[in-house]
Amino acid sequence: MPSLSEISRKYRDSFEAGIAAGAAIDPARHRQALAYAQRYADFEESVRRMRWLGYSGSRRGLDLGSGIGHWCLAFAYFGGHATGIEMRPEFVAIAEHCARAIGYADRTRFVTARIEAVDLPAGSFDAAWSHSVLMYADAEPAIEKAAAALAENGRFYIGYTTEGGRLDSIESGLFDVEACDKVGQQLTIMLNGYLHRAGVYHTVGGRVRMLRFDDLKRLCGAFGLRSVGEPGVQDLPGRYRGVPATFDLLAQKIEGSDAARDRLLACDWTNGALIDELERLLAADCPRLVCDVIATIDRDLKEGSGRDLYARALVRAGRARSADAVRVFESGSALPELTKVLYAQDRGQFSEARRHYRRLGDGDPQRGFLAGCCLLQLREWTAARREFRLAIENGGEMRSWIGVVAAHWSAGDLDGARAAYRAFLQTLDWPAAGEFEGANRSNPIAVASARG
Ligand SMILES: C[S@@+](CC[C@H](N)C(=O)[O-])C[C@H]1O[C@@H](n2cnc3c(N)ncnc32)[C@H](O)[C@@H]1O
Repeated sequence: MPSLSEISRKYRDSFEAGIAAGAAIDPARHRQALAYAQRYADFEESVRRMRWLGYSGSRRGLDLGSGIGHWCLAFAYFGGHATGIEMRPEFVAIAEHCARAIGYADRTRFVTARIEAVDLPAGSFDAAWSHSVLMYADAEPAIEKAAAALAENGRFYIGYTTEGGRLDSIESGLFDVEACDKVGQQLTIMLNGYLHRAGVYHTVGGRVRMLRFDDLKRLCGAFGLRSVGEPGVQDLPGRYRGVPATFDLLAQKIEGSDAARDRLLACDWTNGALIDELERLLAADCPRLVCDVIATIDRDLKEGSGRDLYARALVRAGRARSADAVRVFESGSALPELTKVLYAQDRGQFSEARRHYRRLGDGDPQRGFLAGCCLLQLREWTAARREFRLAIENGGEMRSWIGVVAAHWSAGDLDGARAAYRAFLQTLDWPAAGEFEGANRSNPIAVASARG
């Protein structure tokens, strides 16, 4: 049997010899994927992570969002068989090439599919993982798939990117002209992540999510997976001024993926405790489960005490345009203003959303942030800033500081964006705010637009 260093050498050689784009692959996408693949040329590192996760004795592995396949190949190194699910064919082609190059083609299988839609045999994997992926997917169906595919006691590892790394890019871009390209993109990702947390599924400019650690744990629990540790095998660990850049979580299947749902269905729905539990599940990004439970339990719940919750769950599940949602929202009977706002915002009806915001009181905890985001879409930068500032006065939350910075940045006001960012840093519980290097460099907004 070849040694680890021999396999690693073959693996590295397979990159260096070049990987031709298959006939069905777009050459530009292939080049991009190859550039990304260079990051993972160190096979031994992937093997170390698999061992660290405790997966070296597992027989059947599942990788959700397998990229260029290095996690699957590392799993196969220990003698198991790994299945990688990856939506981009150019990544799958590289993974298959590398598997052949190191002689692991019969120990791996790569499937080009979206995780949320893939068909997996139930209970047939003893280890699963999804590293740096679930922010880009619908986490609820993805985790449900993993849970159903795992055998009893099987484990699922999730590596997840959160605020800290994005803040780091924003700070670099604001104060260092060489790194300015990503500021707008990272601000959009953060605001969209917060909007999604507030209940909006369809966000403008992308759908990257930013779930909280506790939400993800609860989401796993809803499908029979209990958190058993934080293994720390993330690519980019660490914190930015005290804010985590990533987190990771190892969970174990302790019951069937439908068990929690069955328990909810067996509850007495006239008892307010069920609604409270469904509210918690909605906040943890389980809107489909909430919709299912409410729709299954009883029509009366859908029309009565559960109606507002059902309406918000439909929006967060991405179903705001479904016949059911249109019936719930357009039936004329009263829903809270905030629910109507989320519906309008999700459907891209920003002027309509603004009308509803005006009816929310200044003290409403969601108003300032949501109204600010809506005004950004209407390109009303000054009014957006005012709303975000209002939210800051009401509670000083990070999401609204990001909103203020975004409103300045979008208006082309770099000094304002920098000043707002500095003021935001003062709110972080972190000792060394200090002066920034590069604060006097030339204007990154101008450089960004000159670069197109
Ligand atoms: C940042 S890469 C991480 C790849 C790999 N897990 C790793 O750690 O190197 C994210 C990958 O997830 C894939 N991906 C994102 N959303 C997906 C989805 N819904 N279904 C399947 N693949 C997805 C992307 O195409 C990309 O290859």
